[in-house]
Order: sequence, then structure tokens, then C-alpha cells
Amino acid sequence: MNIVVCKDYEEMSLRAAHMVAAQVKEKPNSVLGLATGSTPEGLYADLIEMYKKGEVSFKNVTSVNLDEYYPIAPTNDQSYRYFMNTKFFDHVDIDKANTNVPDGTAADPVAESKRYEQLVTDLGGIDLQILGIGRNGHIGFNEPDTKLMLDTHVTALTESTIEANARFFASANDVPRKALTMGMGSIFKARKIIVMASGSSKKGAVSAMLERSVDTNFPATMLNFHPDVTLICTADVLD
Ligand code: PGA
Repeated sequence: MNIVVCKDYEEMSLRAAHMVAAQVKEKPNSVLGLATGSTPEGLYADLIEMYKKGEVSFKNVTSVNLDEYYPIAPTNDQSYRYFMNTKFFDHVDIDKANTNVPDGTAADPVAESKRYEQLVTDLGGIDLQILGIGRNGHIGFNEPDTKLMLDTHVTALTESTIEANARFFASANDVPRKALTMGMGSIFKARKIIVMASGSSKKGAVSAMLERSVDTNFPATMLNFHPDVTLICTADVLD
């Protein structure tokens, strides 16, 4: 795993933005795997700035997001579709028809998972995948378990994830109990992966990932199997 240590959140965001922009300049019709959460917000803000300055265009880019709560409407301001629209897609020239987020309103979540997995396959995999890392080591909503799923699937959120995400909802009771998430196999279809981590609350998760042993109870450790992963983190993560 390559490691890029940054002095603060701003530098981490900018380093990641330059890597995404470089990918899109090299291959304008790139498939970008995108993530939500507080970690990549600065990355999206920087990409918007670069777009406004004419430094990068997303006109021919296709995006696939990692996950979505289930059930949730795209108009719910806590849905990941809403997050992506308001924090990134609405401000750049990406064609919304080419942006993909699992459908939190699907009547049949299992069928929706199958459709989404097929979509990732049909796109030929992901050129560059952005990941955050959960405090419990989850990647997307691949939560710690004795088994990890390869394909996109419906999953129950763990109590620790519900607690971690309750800050965005009126209360923990309002956090959806399930999610649709790409599996570790879908994520591994990405040719390049960037993992972003900022702040001392991610220290435990990142040090477990860097141990270089693999444990399904800490899904981020699986990333040690992937040949092209770059961790971009703030210095306090590694203190
Ligand atoms: P965060 O979430 O960026 O909001 O810390 C990361 C994650 O849970 O994957």
C-alpha cells in the first residue's frame, strides 16, 4: 500500500483531488467509484473548484457510488444520492444519467443489488475508487463479519455504524437499519483505489489496516490484497 501523509484535512483533500483529476485527464471517459461521508467532502469541493477554473471536465465520466441506505428516498437529505447531487454532481458538468447510486427505493432490494453488480461489470469495472474507512473497519457498508460478500448486496448496519451515523439524523432511531452496498469483490474490480482517512478517530482503523494481516472482522484489512491502493491520510492518523 502506498501511503501519502498530509499535514491536515485540506492537504489530504487536495492530494486526492489531484489524483482524481489526473485520472480523468488521462482517460476522459473514466469510471469513478465514489464514496460519501464526511471524509471526501473536501475532495468534492476541490474538484468543483478545479472544474470551475477549467482544469478538469467530468462530461464523459461515469460514476458508481459504493452504497446507499435502505430504504430511503433520493429526496431525503440524508440519502447518499442527495449527498452526491448537492455536494458534487450539481456543480460540475457530469451527465446525471451517467451517475449511479444504488436505489434506496427499490421494491426488491435483492434484485436491485443484482442490477447494480451487473452495472459495475458492464462498465468494465472501476478505473479509480475512492474509499473512506469506518471506525470499525468497514468499507462501504461491508460491516465486520465472519464472512464478507463479494457482490453488491443488502446488509444490516451494525450498532456502531448506526451510532457513528446518528450525528447526521434527528436521532439514532431515524438511521435506516439496512443498506445496499457494493461487496468487497465489486470494490476489487477497481483498478486503482484511494483510501482517505482524517483525524485521530481513524487511528485505530488505519493501524489495523496497516498491520498487513487479513481479518473479515475488519474489512479494511482486505485492501492489503489489492495491488494498487494509496492511503491518503492526515499525520494525526499515524501518530
Ligand atoms: P466518514 O465515514 O467519512 O463520515 O468518517 C467513513 C466511513 O464510514 O466509511
